[in-house]
Amino acid sequence: VVDAPKNAAAPSVVQSPSPKEKHVTILYASQTGNAQKLAEQFGNQLQQSGLNVSVSSMSDYKTNALKKAQYLLIVASTHGEGEPPDNAIAFHSFLHGKRAPKLDHVKFAVLALGDSSYEFFCQTGKEFDLQLEKLGAERLVERVDCDLDYQEPAEKWFAAVKEKLLEETLTTPASNQEAAVSKAQEGKEYSRKNPFHAEIIEKINLNATGSNKETIHLELSLEDSGIIFEPGDCLAIIPVNNQNLVDSLISALGFEPNETVDVDGATLSLKEALLNTLEITLLTKPLMKKLAEFTNNEKFHALMVDSEALKQYIEGRDLLDVVEQFGPFQWDAQGFVNCLRKIPARLYSISSSQLAYPDEAHVTIGVVRYEVDGRERLGVCSTYIADQLEVGDCVQVYVQKNPNFKLPDDETPIIMIGPGTGVAPFRAFIQEREERGASGENWLFFGEQHFMTDFLYQKEWLNWLKNGVLTKLDVAFSRDQEEKVYVQHKMLKKAKEFYEWLEKGAAVYICGDKGMAKDVQETIIQIIQEQGNKSREEAEAYLEELRKQKRYQRDVY
Ligand code: 2AM
Repeated sequence: VVDAPKNAAAPSVVQSPSPKEKHVTILYASQTGNAQKLAEQFGNQLQQSGLNVSVSSMSDYKTNALKKAQYLLIVASTHGEGEPPDNAIAFHSFLHGKRAPKLDHVKFAVLALGDSSYEFFCQTGKEFDLQLEKLGAERLVERVDCDLDYQEPAEKWFAAVKEKLLEETLTTPASNQEAAVSKAQEGKEYSRKNPFHAEIIEKINLNATGSNKETIHLELSLEDSGIIFEPGDCLAIIPVNNQNLVDSLISALGFEPNETVDVDGATLSLKEALLNTLEITLLTKPLMKKLAEFTNNEKFHALMVDSEALKQYIEGRDLLDVVEQFGPFQWDAQGFVNCLRKIPARLYSISSSQLAYPDEAHVTIGVVRYEVDGRERLGVCSTYIADQLEVGDCVQVYVQKNPNFKLPDDETPIIMIGPGTGVAPFRAFIQEREERGASGENWLFFGEQHFMTDFLYQKEWLNWLKNGVLTKLDVAFSRDQEEKVYVQHKMLKKAKEFYEWLEKGAAVYICGDKGMAKDVQETIIQIIQEQGNKSREEAEAYLEELRKQKRYQRDVY
């Protein structure tokens, strides 16, 4: 049995679990779907190993079931500034609250997903891990905290968990289990490692001359890719770093562009590695720690022990700043490269529906440019697209599912709140509903600085209003008058109707930056409180109930 063929079907012996059947519960806390995908993948693999497994979103899990839980695996991503993802909020506060049960009958393991460029890296996973221990549960394996490149550490964690579980629950010889698992290799998809090369078929700046903003409407051809997505999903674009920045960096480092370096087993020229493979613009605390090991510069080390100053310093600065201000560093090109992480793809909400544009994906990209210390800084992906690419060029992409931002059934009314580029997924929503002939009403709140220059997709919205697909449109142009007018002010003006829509079953969507999303959420609570004659607590509970029913969904960045 040791050399069982790779693609062998699961031998039947594996299907018979141990005398006392043990049950594994996998719960995921997922915002963009990565944690969900991992949880489902692990669930499948454990099932193939003969275990009795259930995989569920934390929001669908009945907390009563904890009393009988045996093995609990948690795959948790962290959202925003260390908050749990929306689907985990209720379960997270239940576990941390007075009603949380003793869990000394439970064995658990936590996989945490996060982004080390945020201060509260993997916070949600850490909190679950600690709290389960506090409630008396026994840790099967140590928690693993994954950065953006999560696949490999996640699989390692899972291998350790699986070994433990099989030791504890199965009597079948290990070699059989291996044969069963090797079958689980799934069909390949486009990914960070294997992206699709999509041709640009249209590229337009949506803002008129004189605007403070630059918003690119980009149309990509997905012909022959087989890619399928739904409204609400995101397109991941793998950027290329700016040539000038790479050249300046290499020269500040005093290296040769043609020196070769090893990146993940591939031999590349330094220039190629810095252009295509490695992140050079975003400074994070973990990166700064690594860099600090290569210099005795006192100012740098003083910065490293002043957490607030460090936080301020890394905001908006890049590697070139560090090399110029704190060099020289004692490293060679390879040592330098070893400090850096792979450049992550940038995610954009897809702004088209595949029903309306079957072979295309549109994205709506706010171009980022600003100045720090007298040098112009360029958003990596947005200026790569704005400045370096034209129609006919290709970009490397793959689809990132967004299961927590989905249209309801065709009859349900929806309220969409999307100022700025936050409007992108709602263009996809409306296209989709128009194509489907969906009967549900649609209400959009849009905001930007100026009516004359910044009304993104104005003609399309007005056409949809005319043909009745869009039921209501409220716009807030913040800088067309003395005092700021924002989408939430427009919502308050329509508070009565807004609440009536909620009461008749509408689903509410917010997309856009987190400052806006927070203020808009406050306003929704205020509307529920005032229009529903409720206390603050009741209004919050009402919104929480909407969230549970998937009638309150957010895509916030
Ligand atoms: P401002 O830039 O004039 O402050 C898209 O960026 C629109 O969102 C702009 O009109 C912007 O206004 C507005 N905006 C900024 N902060 C906001 C907030 N906290 N809530 C709602 N809208 C906001």
